[in-house]
Amino acid sequence: MTGRDAGRVVDEVVETIAESAPEIRQGLVGRREDADAENPSGETQAEADVWADELLADRLSSIDGVCQYASEERLETIDCGDEGGLSVGVDPLDGSSNLKSNNTMGTVFGIYDDPLPAPGTSLVASGWVLYGPITTMALARDGVVEKYELTGDDRNLVDDDVSLPDDPLVYGFGGRVPHWSDEFEAYVREIESDPDHKLRYGGAMIGDVNQVLTYGGIFAYPALEGNPRGKLRLQFEGNPIAHLVETAGGSSTDGSQSILEVEPDELHDRVPLHVGNDELIERLEDALE
Ligand code: F6P
Ligand code: MG
Repeated sequence: MTGRDAGRVVDEVVETIAESAPEIRQGLVGRREDADAENPSGETQAEADVWADELLADRLSSIDGVCQYASEERLETIDCGDEGGLSVGVDPLDGSSNLKSNNTMGTVFGIYDDPLPAPGTSLVASGWVLYGPITTMALARDGVVEKYELTGDDRNLVDDDVSLPDDPLVYGFGGRVPHWSDEFEAYVREIESDPDHKLRYGGAMIGDVNQVLTYGGIFAYPALEGNPRGKLRLQFEGNPIAHLVETAGGSSTDGSQSILEVEPDELHDRVPLHVGNDELIERLEDALE
């Protein structure tokens, strides 16, 4: 696919997700119960997870130039177009366990120019929708991160060059503390002991990473005892998040290399995820060495 064609497909994917977001938000009402099913990672699905996945699958797979749709909520990819098109990977409702308590959630997407599973170096664009007090979209493409407010009818650009603030303020770390490695725990204690830092953890990766993007800092869902690959999925969460944070001037690591360099084995692979200001990620890699 030529650069111009790829640009047109990215535009359509982004526009489709932006237009679907207010509808997804509205459709959460009445779909907060469990669906009596599990996703391929063994997590209980909410009715809203299944519904949002079907809605996005229908719309994104019918875009001319999209050849694959894949999601955290379904085992197999949908092959929907000629080889050589772009592949879209989504986490339709990131943090959907927050439905019960009515807290922040999001939709995460990555647009790859290779069949999935693919490394993050194949991403041509990435982004997320954040269902907070208002609905916003962050989009990374062509080396720039933009932020939009989605009003329902329009997508209003509110920041045309988002970058991580230089001085880190917030931190959030997932997983149970007894399951952290000694090295990771020692690093966390150091971060916590700095009076310039404060804790933010809301149980939805998108909400927590958006705090880092807004205020500077670090978010991690690390390797755990019993789960050495952590919890988050490389194709649907790790790669798009790492691509967006790196494009905004920050760093990502799986512990020893950028998440974008991690070679996937399977579509639903997990990855230990750490993203944030360069200096904090460098210190983390040193601590985990
Ligand atoms: O998608 C997985 C996810 O919901 C992330 O959004 C979030 O960061 C994490 O799980 C929360 O996990 P836990 O409930 O273990 O804190
Ligand atoms: Mg998720």
